[in-house]
Amino acid sequence: MWEAKIITAYPDMFPGVLNQSIIGRALKEKKWSLNIIDLHEFGHDQKHSIDDSPFGGGPGMVIRPDVIEKAVNIAKNNKKNIPLIYMTPGGKPLNQRDLIKFSRNNGVILLCGRFEGVDDRVIDNSGFERISIGDYVLNGGELAAQVLVEGCVRLLPGVLGHSESIFDESFSDNLLEYPQYTRPQVWVDEGGKKHHVPEVLVSGHHKKIKEWRKKKSIEITKRYRPDLLKK
Ligand code: 6GU
Repeated sequence: MWEAKIITAYPDMFPGVLNQSIIGRALKEKKWSLNIIDLHEFGHDQKHSIDDSPFGGGPGMVIRPDVIEKAVNIAKNNKKNIPLIYMTPGGKPLNQRDLIKFSRNNGVILLCGRFEGVDDRVIDNSGFERISIGDYVLNGGELAAQVLVEGCVRLLPGVLGHSESIFDESFSDNLLEYPQYTRPQVWVDEGGKKHHVPEVLVSGHHKKIKEWRKKKSIEITKRYRPDLLKK
């Protein structure tokens, strides 16, 4: 079974979104498993401290390498070939290709950064890859870990009902998704203005619908993500 092991100083932030909706149902149905590892169990003295002030000075606290090492060794257990991922804004930006790759492994071990960070020695020594979820800063890697896990779990066999929706969606072809509409076909907004659904979508003409959607995808991608069109 695909397993997410998450090493964190804030175990109460889990399962969070991972226990909800389709992903949560799949968890209850044992289509994947979630294992939260609390860094405080590996604190180094009577006080169970997990962090200390940074060498060289500066604000905040840094998580100790020996504490991380112990947690990682427990997480690895029997699993040898499972990717080790350090969630940090200083990592490689996550994309759909990464999610497909991670979802094809036996699972992932995620380390959530906190405070000013983690002692850097243990990151490379334990063989972590560094992954970010975008160019902005969060207080810790916990939300980012949930993003990564949700993105993987929905790709696992049997988690989404209609599997073609995975391949039809944004990023599988470097295009953003075309717009969708539902009833009412003519929506009158509260100011009395009428909004019609694009005519072609109610024409029943499947080839034309497909062409229209592709054209819209390209328009939207040009407007919001011109960088994707260059790929
Ligand atoms: Cl993975 N962690 C934190 N703390 N901030 C982030 C991030 C990760 N990715 C983007 N911002």
